[in-house]
Amino acid sequence: MTSEAIETPDESMGSYRYRQATYENESIIFPITVVPEQESARNYAIQWADGSDEVGADAPFYVCNVSQFLKQHQQWLSLMPRVHPFYAVKCNPDPTLIQILSLLGCGFDCASKGELDLVLGQNIAPERIIYANPCKTASFIKHAKEVGANLMTFDNADELKKIKNLFPEARMVLRIFAMDPTALCPLSLKFGADPVTEAPGLLKLAAEMGIQVIGISFHVGSGCRDATAYRIALEHARRLFDLGLELGHSMGLLDIGGGFPGVESTQISLEKIAGLVNPILDEKFPRESGVRIIAEPGRFYAHAAYTLVVKIIAKREAKKKNEEGIETDYKMYYVNDGVYGSFNCLVFDHATVEAEALPTKEHRKKDDEEEDEQNDKDEDEGDEKKQINNNKTTLHWSCVWGPTCDSIDLILERCRLPELEVGDWIIFENMGAYTRAAASPFNGFQPPAVQYIVSESDWSLLMTLNRKSEVHAIVDRQMSTKLNGDGDHHAELDSGFVSDSGHSSEGDKGTDAILDELESVGSAPNDFDAIAVTA
Ligand SMILES: Cc1ncc(COP(=O)(O)O)c(C=O)c1O
Repeated sequence: MTSEAIETPDESMGSYRYRQATYENESIIFPITVVPEQESARNYAIQWADGSDEVGADAPFYVCNVSQFLKQHQQWLSLMPRVHPFYAVKCNPDPTLIQILSLLGCGFDCASKGELDLVLGQNIAPERIIYANPCKTASFIKHAKEVGANLMTFDNADELKKIKNLFPEARMVLRIFAMDPTALCPLSLKFGADPVTEAPGLLKLAAEMGIQVIGISFHVGSGCRDATAYRIALEHARRLFDLGLELGHSMGLLDIGGGFPGVESTQISLEKIAGLVNPILDEKFPRESGVRIIAEPGRFYAHAAYTLVVKIIAKREAKKKNEEGIETDYKMYYVNDGVYGSFNCLVFDHATVEAEALPTKEHRKKDDEEEDEQNDKDEDEGDEKKQINNNKTTLHWSCVWGPTCDSIDLILERCRLPELEVGDWIIFENMGAYTRAAASPFNGFQPPAVQYIVSESDWSLLMTLNRKSEVHAIVDRQMSTKLNGDGDHHAELDSGFVSDSGHSSEGDKGTDAILDELESVGSAPNDFDAIAVTA
């Protein structure tokens, strides 16, 4: 259940009052701050930083805006209505993110025993997991069998041998090569059977070995920038579906992988990808075929929701030659998270990051005074001069270092920042994907903790969904007794649920009406069981 602690202002927030609450269900409890509608992580961080000195807080932290998950999911549902998202845990294994996405009806893409256990530990049924690592450790396969996670990918003959020995009843998905060469991280260098020269042989071999292949998957590369790679992969997938069916496999699952952007750019957006992918899906895998379509988005859900807030722990003035060879003043700032921590994304994810100095209380007061002064002056001088000077802060060439005693620990070599002091805070937005996931405590610097915020309306929605999930749990229990099997009703029950109003997409239903409706559809068949075979 979700419970709320009423109006307990956080001491570190000074006079600024947010409402503190606790999200709670059988598998997870986390404190969350309920903020006014449209409140940004940046603004929350400013309030927090204001109060931080009083309580001596100086550890870096993330502000995770849970409302952003809902926003992303809503966008996914509206643009990719036929594609069921299985969140790629590797992108950011935050249990809170997993829990929220579970509430929203997502499945999960796991790559190891650790990830399987993390997801299962959140009371998520194994039927909602795809073990999407084509090259698995033998003991992990045994573990997947023990816990009932039987949907997994492969792309080579040796993997089939392992499966034959360790988990012959597993339902296999053949991962084929697909590649956007412009992607941030092209994954097909490592995984994916060639769809022409290798995949047909693997389908044949699996049939001969008596291993069931139920579908095709691919991944065009993380941080895809050219959607045409999806078209090519989908064409190969259709051909291999037909071949699989001819060979006697029950081909019923298409997995279009990840690659979806975390923020829109002129180059790529979910809308662009959907515009290309959806018509192909409708043509090659029409609804009537009964083929279930899933994807493994990671970045799409995690990227924009997390803002990293770091503190300047040291500062040095330096001189450095600029492009013209002229020696210029240079500020060197040292902050308390770096390349061995969250900024490992600079190395592993080829990311670029942008620093923004958080205005301190004093700065804001001075700015307000200057603005008032300017307004008074403008009024005296007439309307045509009414103009607020937004560029009053002088920017300096600066570089930003991480905290470790290692010179590779450089976050930004050259950027423009206002003059900052030790104790000031800097934020980095869009830090949710492939950041905390690989952060290490190298040199004794612990990766940042996370503070969660959510808007009022999304908080009510989460409470409704959480109640609803209790209904799921009851229905699931009843169903599994009835069927003596594995019920996963969450997916189809939940998808399509979130809308702008924060209520059901089918209108503004009261909680009880939603719960009634859920109970009435509680006996829906298991999604995977419902897959029809097409010729
Ligand atoms: C197998 C697999 N699925 C899904 C993902 C998630 O990709 P993205 O974050 O680009 O959506 C990855 C990440 O690289 C992956 O390796």
